[in-house]
Amino acid sequence: MANKGKVKVAVLVSGGGTNLQAIIDALGSTIKSAEISLVISNNPSAYALTRAQNAGIPAQIISKKECVTQEKFEEKLITALTENGIELIVLAGFMSILSADFTRKYDHRIINVHPSLIPSFCGKGFYGIRVHEAALEYGVKVTGATVHYVNEIPDGGEIILQRSVYIKKDESPESLQQRVMRQAEWIILPRAVELVSKEIIRKRKVSESK
Ligand code: GAR
Repeated sequence: MANKGKVKVAVLVSGGGTNLQAIIDALGSTIKSAEISLVISNNPSAYALTRAQNAGIPAQIISKKECVTQEKFEEKLITALTENGIELIVLAGFMSILSADFTRKYDHRIINVHPSLIPSFCGKGFYGIRVHEAALEYGVKVTGATVHYVNEIPDGGEIILQRSVYIKKDESPESLQQRVMRQAEWIILPRAVELVSKEIIRKRKVSESK
């Protein structure tokens, strides 16, 4: 059966879930073409799960540890995504790398928010606070955030949106992380969800008219 209506989104999380919250808060305003159908956490104690519950969004815990292998973990993810008719996967602080098989299966259907201006401070080992520590250590004067499509190269997919943040004197990694979230991530992630969802709806219409 053809998909109708808003794009069904799954948000994958591992931690605090402030980016998930930014998406929830943008539903009906910045985000008009999508709805969050599912939240998946690979961490049972992620506060993001409480945010999902407070917003009345169904949530599942799929822990890599319990699955033992990457294949089993991704099989469980695929089952949850398929059962819920998910058309767009948003990685919002999801701290687990997905295999090439998985990213190929969802080509241009997975987006990620990264807390730097890619191609700086990205790829394997650059996640969370480490990204901001590296930016300060290097001495860059401008950093920011990027939303990009996810492919088999960590943080290597096509860029969708970026927003810059100027670094202040005597800034700590923690203060920089907060400002990058507030001034960049929480703004561009909802905008990217809307942009990509509109594109999915456009493609649906093209394939329906064939
Ligand atoms: C965010 O800063 C996000 O960009 C980063 O983790 C944080 C999650 O915060 N993601 C990565 O570093 C991925 N490479 P949140 O759970 O409060 O949204």
